[in-house]
Amino acid sequence: MLEVKNVTVTYGPVVAVKSVSLRVEKNSIVAILGANGSGKTSLLHAIVGLNSIASGEILFNGERIDRLEAHEIIKRGLVLCPDNRMVFQKMSVLENLLAGAYLRKEDLSQDFDFVFNLFPRLKERLKQKAGTLSGGERQMLAIARALMAKPKLLMLDEPSTGLAPNLVSEIMKAIKQINELGITILLVEQSAYAALKIAHYAYVLQTGRLVMEGPSEQLIKDSSVIQSYLGGR
Ligand SMILES: Nc1ncnc2c1ncn2[C@@H]1O[C@H](COP(=O)(O)OP(=O)(O)OP(=O)(O)O)[C@@H](O)[C@H]1O
Ligand SMILES: [Mg+2]
Repeated sequence: MLEVKNVTVTYGPVVAVKSVSLRVEKNSIVAILGANGSGKTSLLHAIVGLNSIASGEILFNGERIDRLEAHEIIKRGLVLCPDNRMVFQKMSVLENLLAGAYLRKEDLSQDFDFVFNLFPRLKERLKQKAGTLSGGERQMLAIARALMAKPKLLMLDEPSTGLAPNLVSEIMKAIKQINELGITILLVEQSAYAALKIAHYAYVLQTGRLVMEGPSEQLIKDSSVIQSYLGGR
């Protein structure tokens, strides 16, 4: 579904992503793991058109998308749920969800049912300002808002950061459920263990380069992977 071929991303003299190639098959969950500064966000931003690429190609269902504008990429069904729980703080939960669907003209009732079923807590807080939600609730809202754009490929940038362990497993469970409903997932995480438990396949980035890849069940068994590249569990 998604093919990243020899993609390099630079910021002036800084090379953030160095000739990275990866594939995401339809209906799978693929994880990109890596420590702080390894280039994960830079790569996601390149895929959704927020970063231009210095070289390489990005294809979605066989079509080159690396020269398209961000809004054209979103229309094709590639949607990013950004890091830091970027929600509109002063807007209510409902207004945030509607903002996620701003490019859509059809009836949204099924989409609301879908996200409230996934995150019942949001339904109880529809009128609450997003800025007053707890960290976990804000993360749920960020994911729900991305879902309102009706993604074919949902990309999540470190959804577990800063959450207590029980919330991390709640969020991972929700991501797995989203995938089971037919949405392909590209999951970027530093919490390697949590991500490998739900992913089918994973790539490891280290200072902008891919240093390892394989089926998750293989990487999770190899404790040297977790120790050397990902700083423990
Ligand atoms: N706008 C920018 N201008 C200059 N350098 C940048 C910019 N954005 C990122 N970088 C650099 O690119 C490298 C990769 O950063 P990136 O944010 O992609 O890493 P990351 O893997 O997402 O890290 P984290 O886990 O901390 O979010 C870092 O060295 C960073 O300092
Ligand atoms: Mg990042």
